[in-house]
Amino acid sequence: MTQDNSKIAIEALNIEDAEQELERLALEVTRHDEFYHGNDKPEISDAEYDALRRRNLGIEQRFPSLIREDSPSKKVGFVALDKFEKITHAIPMLSLENAFNDEDVHDFAKRMRRFLNLSVTEKMPLTAEPKIDGLSLSLRYERGRLVSAATRGDGATGENVTENAKTISDVPTVLAGDNIPDVVEIRGEVYMSHAAFQDLNKRMELEGKPTYVNPRNTAAGSLRQLDSGITATRPLNFFAYAWGEMRAMPAGTQMGMVEWMKACGFRINPLMQSFENIDELLKYYRKIEKDRPELEYDIDGVVYKVDNLGLQGRLGLKSRVPRWAIAHKFPAEKAWTILRDIEIQVGRTGALTPVARLEPVTVGGVVVTNATLHNEDYVKGLGSKGEVLRDGKDLRIGDHVMLQRAGDVIPQILDVDLSKRPEGGEEYMPLTKCPVCGSHAVRDVNEKTGKADSVKRCTGGLICPAQVVERLKHFVSRGALDIDGLGDKQVEALYENRSNLDSEGPVGILNAANIFTLRERDAGAFKKLKDMDGWGSTSATKLFDAIDAVRNIDMYRYIFGLGIRHVGEQTAKDISKTYGDIETLNIAMLNLNDQQVYDELLSVDGIGTTVIEALKEFFSEPRNLDVWNRLLLQVNPKPVEQVASDSPVAGKTVVFTGSLEQMTRDEAKAMAERLGAKVSGSVSKKTDLVVAGPGAGSKLKTAEDLGVETTDENGWFVLIGRA
Ligand code: IVH
Repeated sequence: MTQDNSKIAIEALNIEDAEQELERLALEVTRHDEFYHGNDKPEISDAEYDALRRRNLGIEQRFPSLIREDSPSKKVGFVALDKFEKITHAIPMLSLENAFNDEDVHDFAKRMRRFLNLSVTEKMPLTAEPKIDGLSLSLRYERGRLVSAATRGDGATGENVTENAKTISDVPTVLAGDNIPDVVEIRGEVYMSHAAFQDLNKRMELEGKPTYVNPRNTAAGSLRQLDSGITATRPLNFFAYAWGEMRAMPAGTQMGMVEWMKACGFRINPLMQSFENIDELLKYYRKIEKDRPELEYDIDGVVYKVDNLGLQGRLGLKSRVPRWAIAHKFPAEKAWTILRDIEIQVGRTGALTPVARLEPVTVGGVVVTNATLHNEDYVKGLGSKGEVLRDGKDLRIGDHVMLQRAGDVIPQILDVDLSKRPEGGEEYMPLTKCPVCGSHAVRDVNEKTGKADSVKRCTGGLICPAQVVERLKHFVSRGALDIDGLGDKQVEALYENRSNLDSEGPVGILNAANIFTLRERDAGAFKKLKDMDGWGSTSATKLFDAIDAVRNIDMYRYIFGLGIRHVGEQTAKDISKTYGDIETLNIAMLNLNDQQVYDELLSVDGIGTTVIEALKEFFSEPRNLDVWNRLLLQVNPKPVEQVASDSPVAGKTVVFTGSLEQMTRDEAKAMAERLGAKVSGSVSKKTDLVVAGPGAGSKLKTAEDLGVETTDENGWFVLIGRA
């Protein structure tokens, strides 16, 4: 009779126990499967069933040589999908600002103290923990049970990887403990340990399959398998360190929250600590840096977070990063390689960027074959402010160059070994023409300084095929319209057929509006899209459906997608909020020469003359206007939803002036925006409220002259219900 090993922790099993346990689990799971599929009443709960499968996986991960032919991990029960569904995060998944040296960390602390107006004697404890080099995952629990798991994606929407997350033994399917809030979203990092990575590569080698490059990419690839049976054979781990939506908050500090997660059954990083001053943080950073080689997983820095959640809330966010956290990165890794060629890339605004083609080299665990050379000055050894780079050494084809790669930052060329320069290596010649369309290449002159810019541009505009293609790629890209099945390759293929807009033959696109008529044109065309060479298995119908789905896109994504110079995502959001809907925006854009329209836009926080001039330029170009008008016939972007519509200042335009005493100006602005108000820098008839502190001058007077409502700081707090 075999002994009962079912209670022994996985870590404590020896190889014989493990073998017996795997046999027991295989039989047990099969028995429950039969019950389940035979429509009998299951003997155990789903959670208990999951626990059996996960225990089986956990043991297999420790003893891969013991995996049985009839193992539950090899059988159905793991779902294979055609593609991942999307999940919109209830609360966006943020990224972190980076600090590269001690000074950056001191600045970070000073900035926060200034924002909160803390005196030197007031304490602001910060937590410190390793920054895991994996990929983030958000786990949603309802009434204590795992209901979904999503990757970060673009921060707003990720991929539904629930089935795969269930195969990770560190991810509980049921939360432990009492008083679990009804909705709990736990966020953290999925990673692969060094040991697991090496084991996996050994297995791959034995099977004669290609090996993996580094644990991070392998973890990412494993989590994004459509067949969760494959994910199940990849030993992944998960550290919990953050949260999304929470129906109730079980603790008031970062540390308290993480300890609570531990009590719920998550693994948390044992190296996390809290400190009261910056020197202690920096000491911690150096200790972790020293211990880094001994850790069993990859890290690329240390993350500092304000411990007190009340302060975190006051600090809030600036676009995609919290003000209350920062990642202190480790210095980048370096490697020598050879510069094989310098090619020119044409960007969507015509920027001509030299790109280095390199002899492939591994830096920081990743094979690098290209590096941006930024501009001609950079190739010559000059920085964007005219400073000397690489001791002024220029770059020539054939040079031995030193490459630096820091985490997700673009690789840089830091040095050239002149002693190895091949004879006859020629100096790089500045461009006079666009290599694609032959138009003149010029440098912009900076209006403010009168100096030539470091970027050289193709002056061809919409004549330049490269610019047009890049604009189209941008239009359909992830932050913009994000059309499924329409990636760079497909855009290029459709643009190749641009001469064929409505006659026989494979359909094409010449501009963004043509995308939306693809379905009808394809139906009438002689040769259908799906027969097109290189189209792969993407079914045309699916693509057309994806195109239809974005006709009602968020307004800011549509504006961002137009690719107007200086109009990034944040500016696109500011513009959408200002006009609210596309018709109002349309009228304003066609009347930017009207002083009132101009001034109104200028008063929007975050929008300056550079942006307005760029909008003017865009909307005065007849070809742009033509596409814009055609697009308006095809798309119907969603009007901006008023956030926090129950707040008394939602949708109102507020101006803060004079000195504020209970909050800083930045904090006031962030608070008003959180409550759905627009914050403006100048007073006009459109202003709804002026909050004036002591010393308020002309703005207060203008408000009184115009009959705009005014109040003081206390009045503001009463108004928003926080007095
Ligand atoms: S906190 C709101 N803590 O780093 C703060 N992030 O560069 C959310 N990461 O997307 C992040 N280890 O994937 C945090 N201990 C840690 C982390 C960590 C790794 C990743 C995370 C995030 C990225 C930002």
